[in-house]
Amino acid sequence: MAESLTIPMSVSKEEKYKSLLPQINALIEGEPDLVANLSNIAAALKFGMNFFWVGFYFVKSNGETLELVLGPFQGPVACTRIAMGKGVCGKSWETKKVIVVDDVAMFPGHIACNTASQSEIVLPALDRNGEVFLVLDVDSDKLADFDEIDKKYLVELIQMIEKLKSL
Ligand code: SME
Repeated sequence: MAESLTIPMSVSKEEKYKSLLPQINALIEGEPDLVANLSNIAAALKFGMNFFWVGFYFVKSNGETLELVLGPFQGPVACTRIAMGKGVCGKSWETKKVIVVDDVAMFPGHIACNTASQSEIVLPALDRNGEVFLVLDVDSDKLADFDEIDKKYLVELIQMIEKLKSL
């Protein structure tokens, strides 16, 4: 396992992802514990990409129904539980789709964990049965901060996480 990351500073967002993803792969290689790996991934994304908030919500049972429960993250404290279909995270879980929101104020039912959040991208990770087992949520304090480049590389990251889960 690598113990530190080399993060190029004055390069494009795409170059940052290209440098970071192989390093994240090396970081999690050989470590089977999902929570340990997600914790390191959240830290690598926060410091590598300078995201405002980045973290995971796990699909968990509360005894009666399934809901999203906060997992490893980096950034300000966040809401702990999210119901299916609620907010951007709950909608991504329900639809099994990546959702990019340019202006959270315009997203019906958006859950404002932090008033500084202005745009976000949420990606679902699917298990071998095609069911969502977690979502990755990245928030920005700038409007329209996420685009096709974020989507492309964060989808690659989600594929790494799906592989981990199936180990
Ligand atoms: N804004 C998210 C909730 C999670 S936090 O922002 C960390 C949503 O609407 O699902």
